[in-house]
Amino acid sequence: MTADRSAALFFELFSGLPRQGPGTAASTRRALGLVPDVGPRTRVLDIGCGTGAQTLVLALDSPARIVAVDNHPPFIDILNREAHRLGVADRLEARVADMRRLDFPNHSFDLIWCEGAIYNVGVEAGLRDWRRLLRRDGHVALTEVCWRKPEPPAECAAFWKREYPAIRDTDALLEAVDACGYRTVGHFPLPASAWWDDYYRPLQDNVTAFRTRHHDAPDAQELADQCQNEIDIWHAHSTFYGYEFLVLRAG
Ligand SMILES: C[S@@+](CC[C@H](N)C(=O)[O-])C[C@H]1O[C@@H](n2cnc3c(N)ncnc32)[C@H](O)[C@@H]1O
Repeated sequence: MTADRSAALFFELFSGLPRQGPGTAASTRRALGLVPDVGPRTRVLDIGCGTGAQTLVLALDSPARIVAVDNHPPFIDILNREAHRLGVADRLEARVADMRRLDFPNHSFDLIWCEGAIYNVGVEAGLRDWRRLLRRDGHVALTEVCWRKPEPPAECAAFWKREYPAIRDTDALLEAVDACGYRTVGHFPLPASAWWDDYYRPLQDNVTAFRTRHHDAPDAQELADQCQNEIDIWHAHSTFYGYEFLVLRAG
């Protein structure tokens, strides 16, 4: 399979979802409530925004000015359209950008937001690289998958070893952010509904329709198998892992 075909199939499978990873509006609001003094002069950078499920919550629930970035242009188009539709486009601008090469000037932002996306670069690399973008005493809000219980069943452990070997428990994650020079203002687990309601449930429907559309394409069926396996692992073993929301202050 060529890289172009692989990307096209991947984005087709993940199209039309309310969000592109686990999360809930209530969790975004709860984390926002942990950030002090968010006002009309607060500048927010939302990294890996996807179609902007969390970005729109930030825009509707705060008076802050927001720049949202993602490297997939169709997601950016969707978010900018929604921002116009909801009347917040004067404070919310979405742009195509690579989180590995963000070219904003130093100290451009008071708050960096990153739901379900820092894993693309790794927590430590993201926190260290993005630090220069924050003003002194700025904040970071991020979500990251964590082990919830020790000794996960073999198929669950094997899945995460393959998909994201950097997964660790919450204590280890908190130690890591501390070692990167950030202070934890607060943290809380996302509920199980964060995986299902706006993510795996609609994704499951996509997988079924995608299989039918591509019934004669082995590469597409293989991608559907991988996606189905991820959902099945979650159904079987979701008590062993989950997302944690962290709100941090650059120390
Ligand atoms: C799991 S999704 C989370 C999206 C959104 N924050 C949410 O919670 O619905 C991860 C996002 O990171 C984006 N992404 C992956 N690699 C990226 C990169 N190098 N630069 C910018 N965005 C990237 C993907 O396009 C995707 O939208």
